[in-house]
Amino acid sequence: MVGYAFMGAAHSQGWRTAGHVFDLPMRPVLAAICGRDADAVRAAADRHGWAAAETDWRRLIARDDVQVVDICTPGDSHAEIAIAALEAGKHVLCEKPLANSVAEAEAMVRAAADARSRGQLAMVGFNYRRVPAISYARKLIAEGRLGTLRHVRVTYLQDWLADPAAPLTWRLKREHAGSGALGDLGAHIVDLAQFLTGERLVGVSALAETFVKERPVLSGASAGLSGTAGTETGPVTVDDAALFTGRLASGALASFEATRMASGRKNALHLEINGERGSLAFDLERLNELSFHDHTEPAPSSGFRRILVTEPEHPYLEAWWPPGHALGYEHTFVHQARDLVEAVAAGTDPVPSFADGLQVQRVLAAVEDSAAKNAVYTPVPQP
Ligand SMILES: NC(=O)c1ccc[n+]([C@@H]2O[C@H](COP(=O)([O-])OP(=O)(O)OC[C@H]3O[C@@H](n4cnc5c(N)ncnc54)[C@H](O)[C@@H]3O)[C@@H](O)[C@H]2O)c1
Repeated sequence: MVGYAFMGAAHSQGWRTAGHVFDLPMRPVLAAICGRDADAVRAAADRHGWAAAETDWRRLIARDDVQVVDICTPGDSHAEIAIAALEAGKHVLCEKPLANSVAEAEAMVRAAADARSRGQLAMVGFNYRRVPAISYARKLIAEGRLGTLRHVRVTYLQDWLADPAAPLTWRLKREHAGSGALGDLGAHIVDLAQFLTGERLVGVSALAETFVKERPVLSGASAGLSGTAGTETGPVTVDDAALFTGRLASGALASFEATRMASGRKNALHLEINGERGSLAFDLERLNELSFHDHTEPAPSSGFRRILVTEPEHPYLEAWWPPGHALGYEHTFVHQARDLVEAVAAGTDPVPSFADGLQVQRVLAAVEDSAAKNAVYTPVPQP
């Protein structure tokens, strides 16, 4: 694993737990973790259960005891590490967004295709696909329970940047993060919209804004989403919020909102999908539940009903607790680790693939192009 902070901790939890919960054909071994600060990475290795610590990712990917490289660093290093790891003969899991640009993502897809011919696999970490309620929603849509899809409506709202005094972490710098709320939160909801519908976005119309243009620079290391603010200020070079509409390949209409400025909203990912035969709604802050309306039922008794997605028949639930004993955010990373281990053992292609990550990147780029032209409708290049 490269990177040991927020996602490093979440993925470590996933790797540690997957083999204890699911009957896996191979058991993950936490061989080595990498960061740039020797003391901090050693402490992270001890805390999260990794056998060894490295301070240079090049040494990590050269190790004989490493078969999978898990990239949990900011977007500016994803392409370089992923391509080198694939060339070194490793399987790769890379956090989202896949890269900071379409060109980088295309290079990663080429490296993944070359590596596939040698039997290596590459997956991007859109973990929300692995919320059981989201996986189950995909199943209902694929079975046709919603019929022809008309609307996809998704918002992803956080508030940790609402305070203008919040410091200038890497997430606010284009050279590190690629974009702001768009790449951070928008990437997730674009992936979810495309995953749930099984369709691609073909064009978008967008607005974006940077409400706070200068913020205090960090006086030390960042911690989580924040850090200690110094007295100097520096420019914010990414969006604070992005709003966009889009057309799916079938003609269904989609709307998206991604912001880190929605005071009072912590990790509020809401989605609703309406079709000719029914509708689904989901709220990440109540992630064990899925709302389903069957529009073929007689009108007087029909309406949204709450499905508690904790039955053993629901995706991933066969290995967890008895019905009603709820899961949370961290379980998505356990499911991600399970799915990648199973793919490695079976030699099958894991999803979401790097190509899926590239497609999201193309949507993000079209959103930025459209926003730069005040919402001019912008086609998304198709593969
Ligand atoms: N799937 C999700 O829900 C989710 C949530 C948060 C972040 N992310 C993604 O995960 C990635 C990491 O985000 P985070 O929140 O963990 O960031 P973070 O700031 O908490 O951690 C980044 C880590 O990368 C390390 N790092 C940076 N450059 C490095 C390098 N060259 N070599 C070695 N280590 C390096 C840092 O020291 C730190 O340990 C980003 O791509 C982000 O978009 C995904």
